[in-house]
Amino acid sequence: MNILLLGSGGRESALAWKLRQSRRCTQLFIAPGNGGTEAFGQNVPLQSSDFGEIARFALQQRIDMVVVGPEDPLVMGIRDFFRADPALHHIALIGPSKMGAQLEGSKSWAKAFMQRHHIPTASHRTFTAESTQEGLLYLQKHPMPVVLKADGLAAGKGVVICHQADEAQTIFKKMLGGQFGNAGKTIVVEQFLSGVEYSVFALTDGTHFRILPEAKDYKRIGEGDTGPNTGGMGAVSPVPFVDQKLWHKTVQRIIRPTIRGLAAEQIEYKGFIFFGLIRVGTDPYVIEYNCRMGDPETEVVMPRLRSDLVSLLLHCHQGTLHQTRVHTDPRTAATVMMVSGGYPGTYTNGYPIHGLDQTGNSLVFHAGTKLAENGPQTNGGRVLAVTNCGKHLHEALQGAYQTVGSIQFKDAYYRRDIGQDLLRD
Ligand code: AMP
Ligand code: GLY
Repeated sequence: MNILLLGSGGRESALAWKLRQSRRCTQLFIAPGNGGTEAFGQNVPLQSSDFGEIARFALQQRIDMVVVGPEDPLVMGIRDFFRADPALHHIALIGPSKMGAQLEGSKSWAKAFMQRHHIPTASHRTFTAESTQEGLLYLQKHPMPVVLKADGLAAGKGVVICHQADEAQTIFKKMLGGQFGNAGKTIVVEQFLSGVEYSVFALTDGTHFRILPEAKDYKRIGEGDTGPNTGGMGAVSPVPFVDQKLWHKTVQRIIRPTIRGLAAEQIEYKGFIFFGLIRVGTDPYVIEYNCRMGDPETEVVMPRLRSDLVSLLLHCHQGTLHQTRVHTDPRTAATVMMVSGGYPGTYTNGYPIHGLDQTGNSLVFHAGTKLAENGPQTNGGRVLAVTNCGKHLHEALQGAYQTVGSIQFKDAYYRRDIGQDLLRD
C-alpha cells in the first residue's frame, strides 16, 4: 500500500516510524514532515489545509491510505472533501468527518454531546456576546476556581482556570472581545474538577472500537507542573494509577457511550478519538475530546503497540475492527521533550542539533526540526521527543534522560521531572 501521512510533529514521526514497520506499507509519504521523517519515507511539501493539492498528489502517486495526524484538516472537513469526490472513494482516509471532528473543534458541541449521552463531565454553561451580562452574573455566583474555555480551536491556549470571580470576569470579557478570534466567540464556563489526569486513545470504525495503551502527559513548561501550558513536555505509558476498576469504568461510562452516541447520531467517524480524562475520587470524567492522537502521547503509545498499525487502520476503514486484536508491549515507555529556549513564548529557530548519532536504544522522534545542508537544525518550539522503553518506569526514564543529556542544541530546555509523580505513587 502507498500511504500518505499528513502532519509535521513528533506525533507524525512516531506514526511514520510505526507505519514504516508494516509489511503492507510499500511507499510512505509525509506531508510536510520534518527533519526526521525522511528516515521513514519521503517528505512532500503539501499544506495540510490544501485539500485539492493533497487529492491531486494522492491520485498521482496511487495513494491507498491517507492518515491525518493533526486536528485542523479534520475540523476543516478533509474527510468530507474526499467523500464528495468519487475519484477519491477508493482511498482509505483515517480521520472523522467534519461533524465528528466537532468533538474537538467545538467545546460547546462536545459538552452538549456528552449531556445527550450521559457521559460524565464537569457541569457547564455556554455564553456568547449576546449573553455577556448573564455570563458575568453567573461568574459572580460560581464557586471558585472556575474554568473558562474558548469554544473553538485555540492551539491549546484557550483554557483558563480562574481563582477569583473578578479575574474570571475580566478574562471572560477579553475572550469575548476577540482574544482568541473566532474560537472565543462562544465561551464554555465549566466547573473545576480536582483530580489526576490521564489519556485514553481509541480507534473506531464508527461501530466497533479498539483501545490503545493509555498515557499521561505533562503539559506545563516548568518542573512541578508550573508555568504556562505547552503542547506537552513529556509522556508516560502505561499510567500506574489506571487500575482495572478505573479502566472498566472508563470503558463503560465514557468510551462505549461516546462511540455509541456518534453512531446513534449517524456521525461518520473512522479514526482516532483521544479521551482527555480526569479521575475525581475513584470516578472518571471527560475533560476534553480530541479527534486525533495526542502529541507527545503518540511517542509513547506507538512504541508500546505491537500490532501492525496499517492492518488496524485498514480494518478501521473497512468497518471490521471487531476482527482485530490490539497487542501491547507490557513494558513502560517514557518520552522527554527537548524544546527551544523561550518556548512556549518566543524562541529562535535554525540552531544545529548535535549528538543524534549516539542515541543508544532510545527512539528519537523529530518534531520541530529540519534538515539543512550540514545536518539537522531546530525548527520549532518542541524539537525532539526522546523515548525509551523499560521494564519499569524508572528504567525507561533513565534511558531517555541519558540520551537527552547527550543531545545538544543552543538554548535547549527540557523538564527533568517527567514521570516523577508516578514513581512516588
Ligand atoms: P483542555 O484544552 O480542555 O484539555 O484543557 C487544558 C487543561 O486545563 C486540561 O488538561 C486540564 O489540566 C485543565 N482543565 C480543563 N478543564 C478542566 C476542568 N473542568 N477542571 C479542572 N481542570 C481543567
Ligand atoms: N498532549 C495533548 C494533545 O495532544 O492535545
